Amino acid sequence: METQRLVVDNNVESEKSYTQAVNLLAEGEIVALPTETVYGLGAVATNEAAVKKIYSAKGRPSDNPLIVHIGTKEELSKYVDTISEKAVKCMDAFWPGPLTMIFKAKPNVFAKSVTAGLDTVGIRMPSHPVALKLLQALGMPVAAPSANRSGKPSPTEAIHVEQDLAGKIPLILDGGATGVGVESTVLDLTKEIPVILRPGAITKEMLEEVIGPVDQPTHIEQEQGAPKAPGMKYTHYAPNAPVYLIERNKQIVQEAIQYLQAKDYKVALIAPPSFKELSPDWFFSIGNTQDEMASHLFHALRACDSTDAQIVLATATSTEGVGAAIMNRLEKSAGGKWYSDFSNALKD
Ligand code: TXA
Ligand code: MG
Repeated sequence: METQRLVVDNNVESEKSYTQAVNLLAEGEIVALPTETVYGLGAVATNEAAVKKIYSAKGRPSDNPLIVHIGTKEELSKYVDTISEKAVKCMDAFWPGPLTMIFKAKPNVFAKSVTAGLDTVGIRMPSHPVALKLLQALGMPVAAPSANRSGKPSPTEAIHVEQDLAGKIPLILDGGATGVGVESTVLDLTKEIPVILRPGAITKEMLEEVIGPVDQPTHIEQEQGAPKAPGMKYTHYAPNAPVYLIERNKQIVQEAIQYLQAKDYKVALIAPPSFKELSPDWFFSIGNTQDEMASHLFHALRACDSTDAQIVLATATSTEGVGAAIMNRLEKSAGGKWYSDFSNALKD
């Protein structure tokens, strides 16, 4: 299959681009589209055969449910029976935007593969103008996971989608770089105290201002309990070379680079711009502020695959605010490994 890339950036009014995407989706095809978080790979959420194509193009395990995207708030009541007061407050405050809410699904509305056998469903209304316009023109709910091969960092540019899925999907709508850069916050509202299953740009602090107490289990707590967001148990966001977390401290990073290079390791460093002077073999900036880090992180992780690095060092950040989302993705990408443990093992 040939994959067409259609540029819609700055071209939001272009009817033709949308008509093609709308027609493909309505016919049961899958289409990659930009959202404000990452690119998604969409299919009509009520069409089982179409949704199955998403799993096979991504190589995604079938027990990992998909997020359903909607173009208006009003249609939510078609898909879920109960919309709690807290859910209404969150919709008013954060939709359209990067917040996915988990609801009890009405039975037999979505294709079976969307919910992967659960009786709940994750739904969000994205704010990206291309995604919104497409959803509104289509008038149907769209199931869309991130448009990467399973296990790879989520795509924040159309070229990332092309790298992973060329030949496997008919169309990529190219709306430029996505902006937020990490996937939506997933909030489980079926619990008395809502639980953040995946941290994102809508932070615990922002949610608590609107709906009161919210639980955000740490990575460790999540691993000990049964995985609540099934997708969180798989290896994720991993470049080819192993990633190690390291303290954001120039002296510590410099010593690490010198030590590794002396042992003939080629080192890629993902860190704020001023760390470039430490002379790693490859350097990928993630910016200084947490918003910059979120938006550059996946690009930087992907860029490591175009190098011969044997090890990737990535500087950690605080878990305040969006930092929780950044550290969540970095920890997954590193498989929880810290450089300090690695270097101690080398010295033993
Ligand atoms: O920002 C985003 O959310 C992007 C864009 C494309 O919208 N989508 C995305 O989808 O990240 P995906 O499939 O890569 O991640 C969905 C996450 C997974 O961790 C999945 O396990 C969880 O949401 N999830 C989906 N439905 C769920 C449910 N019913 N209960 C618990 N977790 C659910
Ligand atoms: Mg994903």
